[in-house]
Amino acid sequence: MDAVVYQIYPRSLRDTSGDGVGDLGGVRRQLDHLAWLGVDALWLSPIFPSPMADHGYDVADYCDVDPVFGTLEELDLLVAEAHERGLKLLLDWVPNHSSDAHPWFVAARSSRDDPKRDWYLWVEGSPDQAPNDWKAAFPPGPAWTWDEGTGAWYYHRYTPQQPDLNWNNPEVEAAMHDTLRFWLDRGVDGFRMDVVHQIGKDMSLVSNPDTAVDGPSDPERNHELVRGIRTVIDAYEGDRVAVGEAYILDVAQVARYVDPAARELHLSFNFLPLWFPWTAADWRKHLDEVLRVYGDLGAWPTWVLGSHDIPRIRTRLGRDDAARSAAVLLLTLRGTVFLYAGDELGLQDAVVPPELVQDPAAFRDGCRAPIPWEPGPDHGWTSATPWLPWPPEADERNAAVLRDDPASILYLVRRTLAARKASPALREGAMALLPEGTGAGATDVVAWERTAGDDRRVVVVSFVAEPRGWDAPEGSGWVVEVSSATEEREGKPFDGLLESHEAVVLRPG
Ligand code: GLC
Repeated sequence: MDAVVYQIYPRSLRDTSGDGVGDLGGVRRQLDHLAWLGVDALWLSPIFPSPMADHGYDVADYCDVDPVFGTLEELDLLVAEAHERGLKLLLDWVPNHSSDAHPWFVAARSSRDDPKRDWYLWVEGSPDQAPNDWKAAFPPGPAWTWDEGTGAWYYHRYTPQQPDLNWNNPEVEAAMHDTLRFWLDRGVDGFRMDVVHQIGKDMSLVSNPDTAVDGPSDPERNHELVRGIRTVIDAYEGDRVAVGEAYILDVAQVARYVDPAARELHLSFNFLPLWFPWTAADWRKHLDEVLRVYGDLGAWPTWVLGSHDIPRIRTRLGRDDAARSAAVLLLTLRGTVFLYAGDELGLQDAVVPPELVQDPAAFRDGCRAPIPWEPGPDHGWTSATPWLPWPPEADERNAAVLRDDPASILYLVRRTLAARKASPALREGAMALLPEGTGAGATDVVAWERTAGDDRRVVVVSFVAEPRGWDAPEGSGWVVEVSSATEEREGKPFDGLLESHEAVVLRPG
């Protein structure tokens, strides 16, 4: 639960087959590097057979590996090799919708009388009048597609190639539970569960112009279905984990999914920090709310600053010092941390010209660019042209170059991970916000204390591009353990000053 999980977008990590698309072989090649970095677990975005209309989030078989990524045997090897290095492995389970190429949907659309017809969401009508005003999340347009063959509309929250499954049919629920068991039996440690807050639906077709955001969800039914999923996971030994992508921008509603008393998800993403501005005031307010809401429930939070769905943190913040500070902030909060592959290299989004756009939502290609492991021209991939262009400055911002530079963000991330691992306070301790300081600029800084028994750490983050003063709590003679600005400050007494966008971890001297 106190893990740091490294998110891998498998198409983009590393290509070993020579087709320009990353693969399981590439993940296996990187395991030593990831163990060196010090993360605890890996989450792979979907690797299942798929026509790739949404790059794997359109699953055509929940129980196999797409040939572009490798084979089932290779996945087994990856699980074993990860475990040998003490790394857990999570897969990305996509329960809300399948691909239109999944045999279930092929059967469902073959005839109105097919036994699988009711596994999806159909509405009778006429081809020139969609059932109602519901919109898809992407691409822009209706959430309904007319099926010529059987003369009916089907519902899809995403692209027309991603028909939504009907979880109110018990056969669907049972079949999807079986897909979890398939992977749990093979030894995977758990799942990230794609839009798992959307599976329980209210299909009464009430008009709702906001369905592109909310979907026609029935929250109570959804919580019930998630409890069913948890029962499947709980039947397995070991620390198997269910991480929900409950994409709800409300702290209390997300926390309800991880209320220990309700036995639903173990963890759920909290996406709000992806959307509010990088200011001390916004962070203080958000941390205060999370600590209060999760504290009341006795629940464990999660933290994420990047993913395959949003421009990279370095691109959003627009500055190296702030991106370095963000890494220290992320890795010292109370909760499970998700680190998006490439953010440890301080990568920026690639600039993708219109003719190379791959993403059906059309804005996520930049953060999905291939990861450069070495200087050019192949960047440690094979010689094939990768499926997306390289991110900027790939000859300088790549793992091999940064591994030679103790001042790099890569080493900063590694040092912060090591500090977290070595300190019970940082790993699993309580967290309390420290009061705002006094004096000019004090409100530009957020500080918190982590404690576990005698172990204490203080984290101080400045959110401005100028130096700031900050008075450490008295009595401890604080020493800088990690500084996002320069490793030269580390191991020395804290002088009460922060450089531009600096974050420091302090330990009692
Ligand atoms: C989630 C995924 C996103 C995908 C969508 C549909 O939001 O993170 O990448 O496109 O679900 O499956």
